[in-house]
Amino acid sequence: MLQVLLEESGNYITVSTDSDRYRFHAIWLRDNAPDAETRSAHNGQRLLTLNDIPRDTHVSEAVVHEEQLRVTFQPENKTVDFPASWLISHAYDSIKSVKPGWISADLTIWNAADTAQLPAADFNACLSNPVQLRQWLAGLARYGFARLKNGQVEDGALYGVVDLFGYIRETNYGRHFEVRTEVNPDNLAFTGLALQAHTDNPYRDPVPTLQVLYCLESSAQGGDSIVVDGFAVARRLQNENPAWFDILAGYCANFEYTGSGGVSLKARKPMIELAPDGELIAVRFNNRSAAAFTDIPFDKMGLYYEAYRRMGELAEDNSMAVSFKMQPGECFIVDNTRVLHARSGYSGAGTRWLQGCYADKDSLLSTLRLLNEHSEVV
Ligand code: FE2
Repeated sequence: MLQVLLEESGNYITVSTDSDRYRFHAIWLRDNAPDAETRSAHNGQRLLTLNDIPRDTHVSEAVVHEEQLRVTFQPENKTVDFPASWLISHAYDSIKSVKPGWISADLTIWNAADTAQLPAADFNACLSNPVQLRQWLAGLARYGFARLKNGQVEDGALYGVVDLFGYIRETNYGRHFEVRTEVNPDNLAFTGLALQAHTDNPYRDPVPTLQVLYCLESSAQGGDSIVVDGFAVARRLQNENPAWFDILAGYCANFEYTGSGGVSLKARKPMIELAPDGELIAVRFNNRSAAAFTDIPFDKMGLYYEAYRRMGELAEDNSMAVSFKMQPGECFIVDNTRVLHARSGYSGAGTRWLQGCYADKDSLLSTLRLLNEHSEVV
């Protein structure tokens, strides 16, 4: 049964259900009031600034009224109804994990042993069936990686993949870029050499958050695609030695790229990025575009290099890597803030032609939320 208790000063209320209790501050409640004067009924945007709300806001009365909390604020003498379900789903009065490097429950980390559970879908099924699309996008969001098969084998077919959920992010490499052997390459990705597992473009700020790699030709020996969950690497690094994890999270590296005409890209970011509350939110790892590190104290540089080396070893560890050979018409997408990609070397016999492009996770997650909401209605 829902109950509410008003604290004497009116600074907070306590909402109790049969199993839980949650405290809510008066100023938090007033700021989040759902009434039409506070929130636009049209688009849900807040119509007030905090400066419009009195500093001495407190609650003078709080009662349960038909699955709603009816709260009266002073000195405005304003009464607002809060749906109890909304309050409980937005409760903040609980003990949360404080261990640095905690990972959202929305994500599942993986390694080579989990290959079979990684998402793969048929392009035409995703195009024509919102349920299939929702499952595939949900897998991509959860694992930071997904394959898509049986697409068109034609120049620019990768745009159709991004059209499933969002928008291309154009860069100095163009709306898309070619990945195949070139004479006098500007960038090592465009040769036949093996590439160490990496995230793309850490020299950008913000970094592109999704990458699509789409196969158009695949008759060369080798050239297998390899992906590694960078969050699993970070977790393993932390388990082996917390000091390694802490130092890569605690200091910024430098990344830069000036290889082709007309760009001078630089970013100062950590290889392991945590939110202020310790949540693991990104990894950046790219030996080719790492610049001289200048922001690690002298007496910690040795430890930093130990940690950096070990992170690279773990990213190369076969037990962490999922590898596969793409056929023409296949592609994969990685969350470039999380999943590293690599390529085994390939020979000059035959051809390997991929096209790649960037997109961003915000549109992916937005499309997924809308599909989820729709599926709940249906
Ligand atoms: Fe890459």
